[in-house]
Amino acid sequence: MPKQSQIATQKRNADRPYDIIVWGSSGFTGALVAEYLAKHTSPDTVRFAIAGRNKEKLAKVSARIAKVAPNRAGGPIPVIIATIDDAASLDAMVKQARVVISTAGPFFQHGFELVEACVRNRTDYIDSTGEPPFVKKIIDLHHDKATKDGTFIVPSCGFDSIPSDLGTFMLADHFAKKGQKLSSVKMSVVELVGGPSGGTIASGLGVLTETPYREFWKMLDPYYLCPADAARGPDSSIPAFFNYNKEVGKWQTYFVMESTNTRYVRRSNALLGNAYGPNFSYAETMASDNFLGAAAKTVGGGIFGAALMLPPVQWVASWAANKYIPAGSGPTDKEIETGHFTCKAVGETVAADAKPAKKAVATVKGIQDPGYGETSKMLSESALVLALTPRAELASSGYGAFKDVKPAGGVVTAATAMGLHLVKRLRAAGMTFEVEDL
Ligand SMILES: NC(=O)c1ccc[n+]([C@@H]2O[C@H](COP(=O)([O-])OP(=O)(O)OC[C@H]3O[C@@H](n4cnc5c(N)ncnc54)[C@H](OP(=O)(O)O)[C@@H]3O)[C@@H](O)[C@H]2O)c1
Repeated sequence: MPKQSQIATQKRNADRPYDIIVWGSSGFTGALVAEYLAKHTSPDTVRFAIAGRNKEKLAKVSARIAKVAPNRAGGPIPVIIATIDDAASLDAMVKQARVVISTAGPFFQHGFELVEACVRNRTDYIDSTGEPPFVKKIIDLHHDKATKDGTFIVPSCGFDSIPSDLGTFMLADHFAKKGQKLSSVKMSVVELVGGPSGGTIASGLGVLTETPYREFWKMLDPYYLCPADAARGPDSSIPAFFNYNKEVGKWQTYFVMESTNTRYVRRSNALLGNAYGPNFSYAETMASDNFLGAAAKTVGGGIFGAALMLPPVQWVASWAANKYIPAGSGPTDKEIETGHFTCKAVGETVAADAKPAKKAVATVKGIQDPGYGETSKMLSESALVLALTPRAELASSGYGAFKDVKPAGGVVTAATAMGLHLVKRLRAAGMTFEVEDL
């Protein structure tokens, strides 16, 4: 029987053979995650395996890792085979890990079985999804049991939605420490240099083609991912799409991932009992160089977005994507290295009698392609927080002003599961996270 002091320092599922298993490693993003872990961890402290359904493809990934991370001792990265139509194979796999990272998308098509296996076996889970209907369904199916068991199921730990989620969390924490609540955050993607992969395009089109119409309408609810009994804020279904952001000093247009990120950030606030602010409002846009550019992108984006709702346009887009950017392909190594992004989130507090409204800006920057270089980093570092931080420490530190209201398990968000522990790791890995008063 372990002593109380041992429990406090023990990692969850400490007796399992692997800290992390990367599911979907044969794909473009999963291979980058496996490479990141091989290059940035030592086998003495982090044991990981790669997993998927195709032995030959995974053996090639393991061989490539041996080339790109020649200094990693301990022999080739182990390969585990499982398939989503064989629940026993998934159980056998997830029982071997403390945390599973999944990049096997489109998630609405083949993501559910793995989450179910992780919940069944009390294995923490991280993924790269940007598909709100998938996130909503796993919340409905698994939040209660995962909460009861203290299992963290954390979707969207890539460029969708970590910069938005952690940037807002840091602003809320910054003001909460001064006794102030947020009334609004306006996040602007100021710089974005990067390209898509076949899997990302397939997943985006999959949301349009696979989501039942009824669910599509539900998705328009700005509080779509919040618990049904959570208090609603002032945001409406109409996204921010054209305005001038004074603090950022740039005209703004619609940002393609806003429907995912805004709902995710609102879930973080709801899971913390609306601790960011009782009437908290969140909006996300993309900066443009000038008025005309923003206006043209708003009109052009609107027409393109509306056209994509039509099945014939979806068929043509799927055909073109399969032909020119098929599954398994994505930006080149050089494109990944030279990519980068900067997001600026401007927070404003509630004006109270003795405390006038204050503003601050959170800056989140990445130094490689957002969707692949920085996403593989964010996924890996998220999993490392859960794998390496003893639960007692995870419960008692790293959540700033929100330590007493943070969830201890469930289908949650990056900010509410990993909080400032993740900020610390991502800063050490080269990303910028800072808050400045305005
Ligand atoms: N949030 C972000 O910022 C961000 C960034 C990057 C990627 N993503 C998302 O991550 C996902 C992966 O993107 P990607 O470009 O890496 O895609 P990809 O190259 O097509 O890889 C997909 C992976 O899923 C696996 N898979 C597909 N069907 C499967 C099934 N039925 N059973 C088991 N495994 C299956 C594939 O295995 P096989 O090789 O055996 O086919 C492959 O390993 C997408 O949903 C994408 O949107 C998000």
